Amino acid sequence: MKLKEHEGKLCLRGVRLEEIAERYGTPFYLYDLDCVRERVDFVRRAFSGKVEVFYAVKANSNLELLRALRSEVDGLDVSSAGEIEQSLLAGYPPEALSFAGPGKTGDELRGALERGVGILSVESLRELREIASIASSMGTKANVAVRINPDFLVKEFAIKMGGKATQFGVDEEALGPVADVLRRNRETLHFLGIHVYAGTQCMDAEAIARNMRHTLDLAERVSAEYGIGCRLVNLGGGFGVSYYEEGHELDVDRIGQRMEEPIEGFREGGPAQRRVVIELGRYLVAEAGLYVARVIGEKRSRGETFFVLDGGMNHHLAASGNLGATLRKNYVVKNLSDPGGAPEVCNLVGPLCTPLDLMGRAVAVPSPKVGDLIGFLNSGSYAFTASPFLFLGHETPVELMITGNAIREVRRRRRLTDFN
Ligand SMILES: Cc1ncc(COP(=O)(O)O)c(C=O)c1O
Repeated sequence: MKLKEHEGKLCLRGVRLEEIAERYGTPFYLYDLDCVRERVDFVRRAFSGKVEVFYAVKANSNLELLRALRSEVDGLDVSSAGEIEQSLLAGYPPEALSFAGPGKTGDELRGALERGVGILSVESLRELREIASIASSMGTKANVAVRINPDFLVKEFAIKMGGKATQFGVDEEALGPVADVLRRNRETLHFLGIHVYAGTQCMDAEAIARNMRHTLDLAERVSAEYGIGCRLVNLGGGFGVSYYEEGHELDVDRIGQRMEEPIEGFREGGPAQRRVVIELGRYLVAEAGLYVARVIGEKRSRGETFFVLDGGMNHHLAASGNLGATLRKNYVVKNLSDPGGAPEVCNLVGPLCTPLDLMGRAVAVPSPKVGDLIGFLNSGSYAFTASPFLFLGHETPVELMITGNAIREVRRRRRLTDFN
């Protein structure tokens, strides 16, 4: 999202953020659809159109965002019955959904099979047996991929979900019994291939490419050693986003270049129509999102200044550093009402009665004042969808979407009592 200064105010494609706040109130999220579209297009071009791009709904499950992405992406990574329902409501065909997650219930699996979900990404031997039994009771065949926890660790992933002891996927060294079940249940289990999602929030293009190459090798080994041919490989992704500083970008073109040959080799090397999928959440939507809150109070305490906002960790847990950050860092913050003012080092806090509600610690903000709008950049992923709205009972933020310079409300505010 490219904010520009015009007559002393920050604007998005000519629209003043203050104007938006006057019209819709604060706090709000604003998603720039054009920015998301550019991202998808950029990834496609980096991989020369040789991979299918799936969007991971968990990053931002807003219905209108999903609807808008329908014509852009090849499929969705979903992780619950709720995300499946939301995706179908957004108009995706069930075959375009890939269902992963370590705790799928029997009901969720049955529901996914009834609806015709395209890929069940199986995370354990127990789950595979359960799918076989449900499919058999329904007289149907399940399309399964096996999620593998590889035996290589990519240390450059800031969030590691594989390559070590983890609840995700089947350990690579324990694949034998899984292959047996697949071979013995050919009438109920249709094996598609493998899925490796070993981690995320990686800013190192070489490390991501290395991980993807390992995964393609693994797919060939699984095909050869276990005699179960992989027609599909889901390479995961883990593309990182620079939440805390501007102007720092993952080199996606380089990943594409490094992967060109290996992907081509895989696609050519086996049965016809071999598919290669990548699944991205934050990389597609983070930068397109802005969270905006208004300064409603100023307080000095023992030499420090605190500006109190009308929204905080209740709306945007990640910006408060409470969504699993080991070291708290400030999101990129702008004073939308006075971007050119002299910077003042201050604390930005939300309205909650907890010291955890800290949206900026010793952060430099251009001349903050009561009434100003404060914007938190890179707030399109794991922000609205990953926040504890009910905590202390404030209203939820409204969500807005901008395309060109047309803005519309895409989810209304809700009160605590709406959840009764
Ligand atoms: C299986 C799976 N796929 C995709 C994602 C999306 O990750 P990101 O938003 O970092 O791209 C995740 C995130 O945890 C995941 O667990």
